[in-house]
Amino acid sequence: MDNMNNSLPERDGFASKFGIIAAAAGSAIGLGNIWKFPYITGIYGGAAFIIVYLACIAIIGTPVMLSEFTIGRRAQKNAIGSFKKLSPNTPWFITGWMGFLAAFSILSFYGVVAGWTLDYIVKAATNSFAGADADAIAGMFGGLISQTWTPIFWQVVFMALTAGVVLGGIKKGIEKYAKILMPLLLVIIIILDIRAVTLKGAMEGLSFLFKPDFSELTGVSVLEALGQAFFSLSLGMGAIITYGSYVNKHDNLSNTAGEVTIADTLIAILAGIAIFPAVFALGIDHDQGPGLVFVTLPEVFQAMPGGFIFSVLFFTLLVVAAITSSISLLEVVVAYFVEEQKMIRRDATIIATALISIFGMICSLSLSSSVKIEFFGKNFFDWLEFVSSNILLPLGGLCIALFVGWKLGKQKVLKELSNEYTINAPFYHVFIFLVKYIAPIAIAIVFLNGIGVLKYILMIFK
Ligand code: TRP
Repeated sequence: MDNMNNSLPERDGFASKFGIIAAAAGSAIGLGNIWKFPYITGIYGGAAFIIVYLACIAIIGTPVMLSEFTIGRRAQKNAIGSFKKLSPNTPWFITGWMGFLAAFSILSFYGVVAGWTLDYIVKAATNSFAGADADAIAGMFGGLISQTWTPIFWQVVFMALTAGVVLGGIKKGIEKYAKILMPLLLVIIIILDIRAVTLKGAMEGLSFLFKPDFSELTGVSVLEALGQAFFSLSLGMGAIITYGSYVNKHDNLSNTAGEVTIADTLIAILAGIAIFPAVFALGIDHDQGPGLVFVTLPEVFQAMPGGFIFSVLFFTLLVVAAITSSISLLEVVVAYFVEEQKMIRRDATIIATALISIFGMICSLSLSSSVKIEFFGKNFFDWLEFVSSNILLPLGGLCIALFVGWKLGKQKVLKELSNEYTINAPFYHVFIFLVKYIAPIAIAIVFLNGIGVLKYILMIFK
């Protein structure tokens, strides 16, 4: 204690370029890619839907991601503190608050779904799917989520794992685990892809994914693609602002945003390739929704040579993908507690995890048969998902794009993208144009659709 240091302790941050990419891609790549992307692609018509999704990623997703990185690195603060610092005494900090709320709500239900995937690793590893018919497998899923304690147990285990990583901080927690888990994820998904494309009858599944039939596209599917782009890239609530604040001043933000976007998109497509050939080869319905990975896939695996090992690998993949995403959600809340409420990281992590886990338990209970919590026809789980994905994320993304496009100032944006004029920022003008006009308009359309207002506006123009 006699050797007191007067200078402020250095702010924790990412140590390497690979660490940044692994952590940010780890945030983006999650249940959204492996659970949700395949099932909505199945529902909304395959390849044509994917093409629209790719367009949304390129035109809206990438600029909003770069906006978040820019805000975070410029401010060197958490999601709420960033807006306060860059635009003091204005209401922009509300954007950060919405993000805080969204992180809280998303992680509550995300932890529940991730808990199911832990339970499924055990089911897979104990060979529970072997010999079960379709009805029995569907019954296992319904049986799990309607129980009171088992899903809560797994949810808490999952939240504890997430907290364990976040406790370590950036270099020794988030970055360290992302650098191990992301390569592991890539290896597993490639093994599953090789297995899938070498199945007899794989072609039909592949052409569903890659041969577009545009007659299947509707207005709703286009909007769904845009919403999915947001969720999948972890945009709209400050997760990437928070990670951006840990990015080194010498790193090239445009390249980082581009690489993370490409990695996220690639993994979503690879997840589709792992799933659809098998689904088509076995003649199972491809458009059955959220149960696709929990109901259809075990059925596929148990009918497949080597299915036991592939099912263990698949559910491990889901957990790995989910944990690096939930870490980024928890970090948004923890960074706020540490920087704005002056808590130490340990207390911040414990309190945030406990609060979110309690919400998550209510979510889980709202699906159980013992306690049904429902209001206005939706249970608590569905409400959290609805409010966060359809209201908070689009609204947050809209504010973030508007903030960078109209408020932050062109010079500051250029300085951030060019690392104080030391590197080229060739896409600067395109970026400003997208973030000023295109992204806000497109996001506004998603939002109005999400809250069910768009159809009335369109009626006025008819
Ligand atoms: N992107 C993650 C997924 O695809 C989920 C996620 C993590 C997220 N952080 C986020 C979604 C922030 C929205 C905002 O599963």
